Amino acid sequence: MKYRTEGIIPPPIAKLAEAAKRISSSPGFLNLGQGLPGHIPPEDALTTLKERIFHPATHVYTPDEGLVELREALALYLRQESGIDANPQDEIVITAGANNAFASAILTLVEPGQNVIMPSPYYFNSVMAVKLAGAEVKDIPVGESFQPEPESIEAAIDDKTKAIFLITPNNPTGAVYSCERIDAILDLCIQHEIMLICDETYSRMVFDNARHYSPRSRRDANNTVVTLGSFSKDFGMSGWRVGYIIGPTDFIKELIKLQDTVSICAPTAGQMLALEVLKKGLDVVEKELQRLGLLRELAYLRLREIDAFEEKYTQGTFYLFPRVKGCTDSRKLVMDILQSTRTLVLPGSIFGNTGEGHIRLSIGPLTPEAVDEAFNRLSKFFGEG
Ligand SMILES: Cc1ncc(COP(=O)(O)O)c(C=O)c1O
Repeated sequence: MKYRTEGIIPPPIAKLAEAAKRISSSPGFLNLGQGLPGHIPPEDALTTLKERIFHPATHVYTPDEGLVELREALALYLRQESGIDANPQDEIVITAGANNAFASAILTLVEPGQNVIMPSPYYFNSVMAVKLAGAEVKDIPVGESFQPEPESIEAAIDDKTKAIFLITPNNPTGAVYSCERIDAILDLCIQHEIMLICDETYSRMVFDNARHYSPRSRRDANNTVVTLGSFSKDFGMSGWRVGYIIGPTDFIKELIKLQDTVSICAPTAGQMLALEVLKKGLDVVEKELQRLGLLRELAYLRLREIDAFEEKYTQGTFYLFPRVKGCTDSRKLVMDILQSTRTLVLPGSIFGNTGEGHIRLSIGPLTPEAVDEAFNRLSKFFGEG
């Protein structure tokens, strides 16, 4: 049988995952590979959900666009947090995570033969969605401090360009894109009549007084911007599969066709939990973010002690994305690190060409002691310990 998806190459980490699986059962394995924040949803919210578990409404579909109470609470939350103005009736859809939201957005918007511009490095799953639509990714390297370059993006726009895709705060770099650059890119989108898709999965994970800027907060942008969000990282809910998409009414009307065909709705219990988290979990989440902030400080401190790393400090997420001096094959390097230190990190090359020479360290679920231990091992590996 010939499958339509055969030409789509998944991220080349299969070999690494296989090796990690073998090593993960051995004592002392340290996982800095998986992109998890390390916290679970607040206890109060979980207790309320537990009380509702035998209620029939927990076990049936919600409307395609999601529970109305959740959309209303989300609209309020986003207005307060990000200055986003979205009508919960016809501009917000709850999805089974931000990945689902992105794939639906692409399949709604992009026709075969068109292209989507992405600053690189990028989150690798996004590429697969664009390829599934029969479209191409135009990979445009980021500039200084991992910030996107409006001039290079403008030069890449052609008559086949349907959208520009930004991720802020960014996976894998942790960069919080500046308001000026986002605005300049949004202006390009308005001028060229293309969509700006902005993945804001890590919107709360900004540190040292940095601010997350959401392009949808600009009032002239509502017809040009599609916003993606998630409960996975900020609220520790990756297994519950709840995210959302916000866009112009006519776009949302079309997207609902996909939603109904693929999943009908996001998981009901997950939506109920997301609602509880928004109602009473924000303080707990704030505490977890403080924990992550301290962990980041420790990790950057230790990173700076290792000469082999060229550090680029960024203000978002729980990822560090240092360049390794002299490294031209990050996949081989990561395998070597895994074999000799039982520590898993990810090769930068899986995040696009610009990521080559870097490694991604995800520190979210680690204790401070484990972060220390990971850097002791890396230091030794690079002959500096
Ligand atoms: C930038 C980005 N978007 C989306 C996702 C997936 O989020 P979700 O669990 O909501 O599908 C991830 C997961 O790592 C991510 O890094």
